[in-house]
Amino acid sequence: MSNKEIVVSGIRPTGHLHLGNYFGAVKNFLKMQHDTNAYFFIADYHSLTTHPTPADLHENVKQVLAEYLATGLDPEVATIFVQSDLPEVAELYLLLNMNAYLGELERTTSFKDKARKQPENVNAGLLTYPVLMAADIIIHKAKKVPVGKDQEQNLEMARKFAKRFNRIYGVDYFPEPVPYNFGDDLVKVPGLDGSGKMGKSEGNGIYLIDDEKTIRKKVMKAKTDGGPQEPNSEMSQEIVNLFTLADIVSDQSTIDFFRSAYNDCSIRYGDFKKQLAEDIVKFNAPIRAKILDIKADEDYLRKVVKMGEEKARASAAKTLKEVREIIGFRKF
Ligand code: TRP
Repeated sequence: MSNKEIVVSGIRPTGHLHLGNYFGAVKNFLKMQHDTNAYFFIADYHSLTTHPTPADLHENVKQVLAEYLATGLDPEVATIFVQSDLPEVAELYLLLNMNAYLGELERTTSFKDKARKQPENVNAGLLTYPVLMAADIIIHKAKKVPVGKDQEQNLEMARKFAKRFNRIYGVDYFPEPVPYNFGDDLVKVPGLDGSGKMGKSEGNGIYLIDDEKTIRKKVMKAKTDGGPQEPNSEMSQEIVNLFTLADIVSDQSTIDFFRSAYNDCSIRYGDFKKQLAEDIVKFNAPIRAKILDIKADEDYLRKVVKMGEEKARASAAKTLKEVREIIGFRKF
């Protein structure tokens, strides 16, 4: 564990995991947990920027935790914890805030987006979101952070704060965290509405928690086109999307069958979708069952977060102690 590269990633407790999250990110987490010294946490402090009710806050943390564990994140292998279990993070956030400037925070794209989306609630937590994120990362002295494109600016800010700390105190203490690049492993899962990526918008995504009926209904409603007019014609985006999904969940023989049916114009989209739905059901069913099991097992969840908290706090407390010394706090 000790000489493996340190990796940190935070998961906002909003919404359910869908197939796009699974194949685009979670699968890489599953691999990473073995190859690196990985810290994965539920970013519940961050979610306070949108003012959830106490009941929702807890339920959402529990839901994401259960979903990630069900996909195979292993608390015996990775350090899986809840952000708010680490008071050290809040303390480092306070310290970093002293060297974070209004101008640079206001210029952050994600701040401007959020301020536009919730003009009635432009709180200071939104403004300092990147500072908290930097604290999350550098408190474990992480070198790599697996995040999507939308988080790269926040990560750039984390590097800035780490570098600034080192410069101000004349130390070489915090490493500069860089994005973890999955390269070719990254699968872009298309949505069911003919548009681009699978996301959270209505009717576009299939969630790991979806039951058989829901999956069948969603897939049967997926957009198609009028069908191929001549042999070997080019596929519309809608059909490419369905085949991309099949590539992920179906057997090669099934894929070959429908591809050649498309090419000789004998394909019936209804049959194709029916088969695709069954293959997605087959993929989802065991994960869904696990999510429900884990969610119902309070004892197990308690054990998991406690174990994560202990491991994560050991690392965080060590950093905090050193940081306080570097800054100049001394005991009398
Ligand atoms: N901001 C990230 C997101 O919205 C979540 C997050 C919080 C995070 N702290 C982090 C990601 C630290 C990576 C590292 O997805």
